[in-house]
Amino acid sequence: MPVQSIVSPVKPRIDEKRVEKELVKSVIQMKTKDLNVYYGEKHAVKDVNICFYEKTVTAFIGPSGCGKSTVLRCLNRMNDTIPGAKVTGEIWIEDVDVNDPSIHPINLRRHVGMVFQKPNPFAKSIYDNMTLAPRLYGASKQEQEQLVEDSLKKVGLWDEVKDRLKESALDLSGGQQQRLCIARAIAMKPKILLLDEPTSALDPVSTAKIEELVRELKKEFTIIIVTHNMQQAARISDYTAYFYMGNLIEWNRTEKLFTTPEKKQTEDYLSGRFG
Ligand SMILES: Nc1ncnc2c1ncn2[C@@H]1O[C@H](COP(=O)(O)OP(=O)(O)O)[C@@H](O)[C@H]1O
Ligand SMILES: [Mg+2]
Repeated sequence: MPVQSIVSPVKPRIDEKRVEKELVKSVIQMKTKDLNVYYGEKHAVKDVNICFYEKTVTAFIGPSGCGKSTVLRCLNRMNDTIPGAKVTGEIWIEDVDVNDPSIHPINLRRHVGMVFQKPNPFAKSIYDNMTLAPRLYGASKQEQEQLVEDSLKKVGLWDEVKDRLKESALDLSGGQQQRLCIARAIAMKPKILLLDEPTSALDPVSTAKIEELVRELKKEFTIIIVTHNMQQAARISDYTAYFYMGNLIEWNRTEKLFTTPEKKQTEDYLSGRFG
């Protein structure tokens, strides 16, 4: 489903010249302009300008409390649900203004899926976890079965669970639960996948599987991942954004940021000289 369909009933005109240009350069899938977030008096995110390229992985790094999750939550309007939170500035997904009043957050979240730190499957069967949302959107029984198989295959879980789809998702290991949550998110065929420290509750083997999975999934999705693990960012991302106290200090190609950062603050953080 095209992103534009979340704004109804206006049908955007296609700018042929622009389409042609975008075919030869990286396509910006999502961007923010002067993004600010306040929790009451607390100014948690300050004038953040960043863009995310289609089918790339962007990692958010920085010390705890620097605003990584807050920025991530703006991208699918999860902050809407936090009392006292105020968001200013702009966020665009393709040509659509995410904060436009005509956009329902539920529709937006079909395009911008999210997975959290702690695996949070529903206390239902593996099958039901996968099909609950697609069913709400009218997927037929056959479509549901196909989605379950395709999505579980994409996260490398199919062979592990195909004979126990009716069993509770809560009986899966932590790592399997997290892959199920990723499968559940991609079953909705989003354009963008937001991952907030998806491996911080997992053991090293499960972590490695998720990292491998992220590298695989970027062939199909634009991924933004928050991690407190700098090595993880270096291993799996194409772009890295370093945040400190609500400011986006530096945003660059990952290789560049880790080898020759432009800002001294970034260098200090990466080298552990950070006070
Ligand atoms: N729901 C909330 N209410 C009030 N303050 C919050 C809330 N969520 C986050 N904050 C504050 O906003 C700042 C950024 O938090 P967060 O985005 O969670 O940082 P990070 O993900 O980088 O650890 C922190 O100072 C945090 O205490
Ligand atoms: Mg966080």
